[in-house]
Amino acid sequence: MNAQLTPIPVITIDGPTASGKGTIAHRVAQALGWAVLDSGALYRLTALSVQQQGVDVADENAVALTAQRLDVQFQGDQILMSGVDVAHLIRHESVGNLASKIAAYVPLRQALLDRQRAFRVAPGLVADGRDMGTVVFPDAPLKIFLVADVRARAERRCKQLKEKGISANLTDLLEDMRARDERDRTRATAPLVAAAGAKTVDSSGLSIDETVKVVLDFWSGLGFGAAQ
Ligand code: DC
Repeated sequence: MNAQLTPIPVITIDGPTASGKGTIAHRVAQALGWAVLDSGALYRLTALSVQQQGVDVADENAVALTAQRLDVQFQGDQILMSGVDVAHLIRHESVGNLASKIAAYVPLRQALLDRQRAFRVAPGLVADGRDMGTVVFPDAPLKIFLVADVRARAERRCKQLKEKGISANLTDLLEDMRARDERDRTRATAPLVAAAGAKTVDSSGLSIDETVKVVLDFWSGLGFGAAQ
């Protein structure tokens, strides 16, 4: 086949908050030598910027404009916003909750589309989020819908936050997580749903290594070859 006509492959990993998408996406990308897109970080960065600049959260166009103007660089573990590393700051629950609210805005989702698609570079991309398989990369040859029991996810998130020195309470997290899941699933635009043809993987009882293996096995099963 003419290599120029072969689209750059993408593996999409969508799922609810704290389902382990980020970790799995990074590990799969590492194994394949591909780039990775943490699309949730773009929504979180917009939320942080909105907070910092005192933008009216209810003004959908102003929020979209804030996203368009984001000056962001992903450098390893660092996420630089206007030159300042905010990788840690955007993980706060207040930022995640605001991100989930503004993620319902159509102008914002539109503003972030091209920015997300620009991550599709050779030899391949692993993209994680909510609408990677349904909206952003609908032609992806492998789409994963990663789920996990809400309690397992709240426990993971609690542990992660504590490890980062951010205070966390399991009961509050469970409540926040249920509310956020509900919002992400029921919004009118790009709701969290499994894409057509997506493979659903339940990671509740699986280790990170086991989950990564399931995804890599699906990929090799497609016959693109390990050297992609
Ligand atoms: O994956 P995350 O928790 O970092 O994402 C934060 C919020 O951003 C999430 O609640 C919903 C929104 N989001 C989205 O709407 N679409 C995406 N592709 C990624 C995240």
